Amino acid sequence: MVNVLVVGSGGREHALCWKLSKSSKTDKIFAAPGNGGTKNNISSGADDLTDLAKFAEENDCFTVVGPEGPLADGIVDKFRLLNLGIFGPSQKAAQLESSKIWAKEFMKRNNIPTARFEIFEDAQKAQDYVKSLDYNVVVKADGLAAGKGVIVCNSVDEAISAIDTILVKKTFGEAGNKIIIEERIDGIEASYIALSDGNIAIPMATSQDHKRVFDGDKGPNTGGMGAYSPTPIVGETLTKKIQELVINKTVQSMKNEGIEFRGFLYAGIMIKDGEPYVLEYNVRMGDPECQPITMRMDFDLYDYLLAASEGRLSELPPPSWKKQSAVCIVLASEGYPESYPKNEEITGLDLTSENVQIFHAGTKNQDGKILTNGGRVLGVTALGDDLESAIANAYDAADKISWPHKYYRKDIGKKGLAYL
Ligand code: AMP
Ligand code: GLY
Repeated sequence: MVNVLVVGSGGREHALCWKLSKSSKTDKIFAAPGNGGTKNNISSGADDLTDLAKFAEENDCFTVVGPEGPLADGIVDKFRLLNLGIFGPSQKAAQLESSKIWAKEFMKRNNIPTARFEIFEDAQKAQDYVKSLDYNVVVKADGLAAGKGVIVCNSVDEAISAIDTILVKKTFGEAGNKIIIEERIDGIEASYIALSDGNIAIPMATSQDHKRVFDGDKGPNTGGMGAYSPTPIVGETLTKKIQELVINKTVQSMKNEGIEFRGFLYAGIMIKDGEPYVLEYNVRMGDPECQPITMRMDFDLYDYLLAASEGRLSELPPPSWKKQSAVCIVLASEGYPESYPKNEEITGLDLTSENVQIFHAGTKNQDGKILTNGGRVLGVTALGDDLESAIANAYDAADKISWPHKYYRKDIGKKGLAYL
């Protein structure tokens, strides 16, 4: 029996803890720092790499890293030097997410489909460039900006103001020292997540996120307001295309460049005229995509993460998935992604079953009461025999939970139903 240390504090991490705790090989699951729903929380934050390594060593843990921050900071390299088992990509491999410019140049030199682009440090040159184009653009800060450094523009004026926001006003700080200006591709968006051991990559179940805060994909981008799996949008033909043209090519090209990618490889994909284009890479599970995906896993996640971290995924059989659909509704605090109240007591949390899990995100346990502690508060996730019934089950459970400023989208999964 092995102990596991899950690094992070979101809904994704709670879902990973939940699934890992079901393995017959795992003993205690620790979360650092965890949230109001995770057990065995330790006080070290996700960025206290030295403390985390010490804890993992003293408690004989296999470590699983949830968010990109510690990966970009080199947590995996540090643990490996100390001979500690850890799942996630190295700092170099994490550049796929931590530097959008690195990722775009990597795709370009390896012929991985992505929108055409140019890179700028100088605002004047960037503005002259957008004025010369006859198509709409997206302006992106190079570095990590908590999912906010991307501005999708509808006109030259918007592009000029986006350049000003990132490059001149430095709204995203150092992350905006350089920008990418790329062609806007109008299509259907989906998340494609695979598990790689540096040699091969096996697809996880397909999923689709809902990034905008309001129904009908209106309002500002968020970390994600809900997700479902599988998605009919990524059918068999497209799965094959993405797996070959994007995922396998990425893992192989990384290897050819001397970088082994061991971890979850997430490609944010735009599908236009049946062809996939990579909008971005993430080097971790999606949040909230992780929640419905883990609920559909019919395999021992620990076995697969361990094998991926040791470069021997090919020894395992293809993972099997529950036929059911799963839907995760994110319950947020009103005002997210901007400012929102905290410390409100949540009630109605005791209604879980094998088919409904309430994954915590921005919550804390204070003297036995669960209080809100973040923008995205809970991920209510339910299985159902098909997408329609999974949606109904998830909303049934979501409606029974309350706190004063609870807010959630009412149309999670509808894009999938409409597509069908
Ligand atoms: P990213 O963090 O790069 O995935 O960008 C955040 C969001 O911006 C994506 O989920 C898309 O909705 C949108 N986006 C990014 N790049 C493009 C693009 N080239 N064309 C259209 N939309 C984009
Ligand atoms: N749900 C989008 C992300 O995890 O980046």
